Amino acid sequence: MANRADNSMRCSNSKKPNDGMMLVISIFAGIVIGFLLGISFPTLSLTKMNFPSSILPSVATVYIENEKPEKSSKTSSQNESDASHHHKIWVPSNPRGAEMLPPSFVAAESDFYLRRLWGLPKDDLPVVKPKYLVAFTVSYEQRKNIDACVKKFSDNFTIVLFHYDGKTSEYDEFEWSKRAIHVSVPKQTKWWYAKRFLHPDIIAPYEYIFIWDEDLGVENFDAEEYIKIVNKHGLEISQPAVESRKSITWKITKRIPGIEVHKEVEEKPGRCNDPHLPPCAGFIEIMAPVFSREAWRCVWHMIQNDLVHGWGLDFALRKCVEPAHEKIGVVDSQWIIHQKIPSLGSQGTAQEGKTAFQGVKQLNRGYCLVLYT
Ligand SMILES: *[C@@H]1O[C@H](CO)[C@@H](O)[C@H](O)[C@H]1NC(C)=O
Ligand SMILES: *[C@@H]1O[C@H](CO)[C@@H](O)[C@H](O)[C@H]1NC(C)=O
Repeated sequence: MANRADNSMRCSNSKKPNDGMMLVISIFAGIVIGFLLGISFPTLSLTKMNFPSSILPSVATVYIENEKPEKSSKTSSQNESDASHHHKIWVPSNPRGAEMLPPSFVAAESDFYLRRLWGLPKDDLPVVKPKYLVAFTVSYEQRKNIDACVKKFSDNFTIVLFHYDGKTSEYDEFEWSKRAIHVSVPKQTKWWYAKRFLHPDIIAPYEYIFIWDEDLGVENFDAEEYIKIVNKHGLEISQPAVESRKSITWKITKRIPGIEVHKEVEEKPGRCNDPHLPPCAGFIEIMAPVFSREAWRCVWHMIQNDLVHGWGLDFALRKCVEPAHEKIGVVDSQWIIHQKIPSLGSQGTAQEGKTAFQGVKQLNRGYCLVLYT
C-alpha cells in the first residue's frame, strides 16, 4: 500500500511535468512548421501564385522592360526619335558632361535673377530683366562711395557686391541692398571673386559686365549713357576716362575733354614699339573695366586662379578681341575720378620691413611677368 501509494503519488506527481512536456513539444512543433512555411513562402508567392504584374515590385517591372528593347528596336523602324527610348542617348553638342541628356533637359546657363518661394516662376522676374551687371569689391568703410556708385546704375543692372571685410547685413540701410547679390569672403581681391562667381555661363544674360573697384568718384558718370556710347563705337572692352589729382600711370586712361571716345594716345618716348599696341592702344586699366559678354567669356578664361590684384592682366586683354586697337577704348564723355585709396592693397601682411602694400605689389609683379612673356 505504501508502495502503491508511493507510486500513485509519483504518478500523480509526474503528471504535471508530462503536461509541461506536451506544451514544450507543441510550441516547438509550431515554431518548426511556422519556420518551414516562412521559408517556402517567397518561392510560393513568386512562382506558384499568379500575382498580377502590377503587384510585382517596380524594380522587376523596369528590369523586364529593359530586357525587351534590344530585340524589338532591331525589328522596328529606323526612326531616331523612336529608337531613343531604347538606345543610350549621346549628344556630342551638349555641354561637356551632359552628353547623356536629351538636349531639352539641359540648362547650360544661369543668371542672378532673384526668385520667390511662391507662385509661378514665370511671374517672378521684374518686368524689365536686368541686361547688364555691375560688380563692386567693397569694404564697409567705403559704403558712402558704394552707395553713390550704385545709384549711377539703373534698374537695368544687376548689382553684385563682393565683401572682403565680411560685413554684409550692414548694407541693409540702403534700399538697393535688397536686390543686390552679396558675396562675402574675407580678404580676397576682385579677380579672385570674378573668377569664382562671375563665370560666363552663370552671368550669360548680361550684355555688359562692369567689374569695378570701390574707390571711384562717379559724379560725372551715368551707366546707361556709357552703354549707349560703347555700343555706338563698338567697344568690346572699355573703361571710363579718368581724372585724377595725382599723376596717372598710363596716358591712355586720361580724359580728353570734348570728345566721346579715344582708342589710342602717344605715350612717353620708348614706351610703345607699335602705336597699335599697349600701352598706346588696345589697352585699359583694370580698376574700372567694362566687358561685353563675348569679351568677358574670353577674359574669364585668361584669369589665372592665383592672380591676386590683376596687374598685368591689362596688357593681355587685347588677346581677347580682334582688332584690339579698334575694340578696346576709353570713354571720355562719361568719366570717373580715381581717388586712389589702396584699401585692397593694405590687406597684405607686412614682411621683412616692407609695408603690407609693397608686399602685395611685389608678389604680383612676379606673377605678371609670367603672364605676358
Ligand atoms: C520619327 O517619328 C516622329 C514622330 O512619330 C516623326 O515626326 C518623324 O518625322 C520620324 N522621323 C523619321 C526619320 O522617320
Ligand atoms: C532700361 O532699358 C530699357 C530698354 O533698353 C530702356 O528703355 C530704359 O530706358 C532703361 N532704363 C533706364 C532707367 O535707363
